[in-house]
Amino acid sequence: MNARPEDFTARAFSREELEAFWMPFTANRQFKARPRLLSHARGMHFWTTDGRQILDGTSGLWCVNAGHGRREISQAVAHQLETLDFAPAFQMGHPVAFDLANRLKRIAPAGLDHVFFTNSGSESVDTALKIALQYQRLKGEATRTRLIGRERGYHGVNLGGTSLGGMVGNRKAWGPAMIPGIDHLPHTHLPAKNAFTKGQPEHGAELADALESLIALHDASSIAAVIVEPIAGSTGVLVAPQGYLQRLRELCTKHGILLIFDEVITGFGRVGAAFAAQEFGVTPDIITCAKGLTNGSVPMGAVLVKKEIHEAFMGAPEGAIELFHGYTYSAHPVACAAGLATLDIYEREGLFQRAQELAPYWADAVHSLKGLPHVIDIRSYGLVACVEYEPVPGAPGRRGYETFVRCFEAGCLVRGAGDGTALSPPLIVEKGQIDQLVETLARAIKAQ
Ligand SMILES: Cc1ncc(COP(=O)(O)O)c(C=O)c1O
Repeated sequence: MNARPEDFTARAFSREELEAFWMPFTANRQFKARPRLLSHARGMHFWTTDGRQILDGTSGLWCVNAGHGRREISQAVAHQLETLDFAPAFQMGHPVAFDLANRLKRIAPAGLDHVFFTNSGSESVDTALKIALQYQRLKGEATRTRLIGRERGYHGVNLGGTSLGGMVGNRKAWGPAMIPGIDHLPHTHLPAKNAFTKGQPEHGAELADALESLIALHDASSIAAVIVEPIAGSTGVLVAPQGYLQRLRELCTKHGILLIFDEVITGFGRVGAAFAAQEFGVTPDIITCAKGLTNGSVPMGAVLVKKEIHEAFMGAPEGAIELFHGYTYSAHPVACAAGLATLDIYEREGLFQRAQELAPYWADAVHSLKGLPHVIDIRSYGLVACVEYEPVPGAPGRRGYETFVRCFEAGCLVRGAGDGTALSPPLIVEKGQIDQLVETLARAIKAQ
């Protein structure tokens, strides 16, 4: 057990004080009636404002892959703030941005040599969509404007990503603000055939052929890009079936369609390699990432782009801005410094390898929950997993939420994903902590 941090002081807020912050993706009234506030974090643990220690089973929000409170990162951030707190990224540069782009290029799949910096996964996705659309124009294929996502996909909350995502709650409120010319592939969740699979499910590669049907319907000349998560995280850890991504790659290549992997969750070691593209042996044209890039310490995202795409932009007349896109905080020096320090830790501590080595232990531990009441599926890959429950009739999501609350009260942070519990611990997790997480979850499931 880690001792409580020395600078800990208990804090409590009145209901009125809690009101001012309109919390994201949160049932605000429910939360504020019974708040869960985190005050400190070190290593594998959080501490709540009333001093309870919580084992982090979700890497915060799938991002703190090297564990909390890493001194190397905070020192790099402090040093950067004192050296160069901000530098404009439009028509100006600073060394740390170029250093980080080169570091990312080194760990990216071969050929994805160019990096555009953003501040989040959502921004990475919308940036990638813009790059894909403009690339097709530059190639003389301006009719390619259609974008294809997938049911149950999550690509963040900006308008492009929301339109391409496939989670109904995230889409239904925005009506015509969803960008036109979007289609969705079917999701790959086949519980009747694949329930309780460790690793990539055996069945479902043929679902990629739905892309052929969309091509037959709209013609390839109208389609710019397809975006998928190699493992759909937010919708409950749906691992791409064996051969599925290969099939998508073949079809995209055959029809001149760009393939984008959204690796905001799968990037930076969660699956045992730097990116899922490498783990699954399929190279997309563009990768979007964020989260683990800075270990969650400073907001940052990135878009990794194939050389050919970048080259198409660089044919613009000398002196012309090639891509009319960017953020005030693109390549923010402090985020870049955090990114470099984070990549140093991953490399020095061999954390991607560690995730790979721990994966069989992790899978066995999580799959030991099979047979508990209401458990209808368990899915796992690398250091990620989801346990799915039979929904309470008329109350979808209740089992997932209540399990999350019970685990939190028992000292573990897990994530409710519909009627499931998603798990994605920091890659520094010890076997004993995996046991604690799974035992806590087992007790919470039995109490359902
Ligand atoms: C696959 C995927 N894409 C995009 C995003 C959005 O990232 P952000 O919340 O940093 O905007 C997420 C967030 O969980 C994600 O899982």
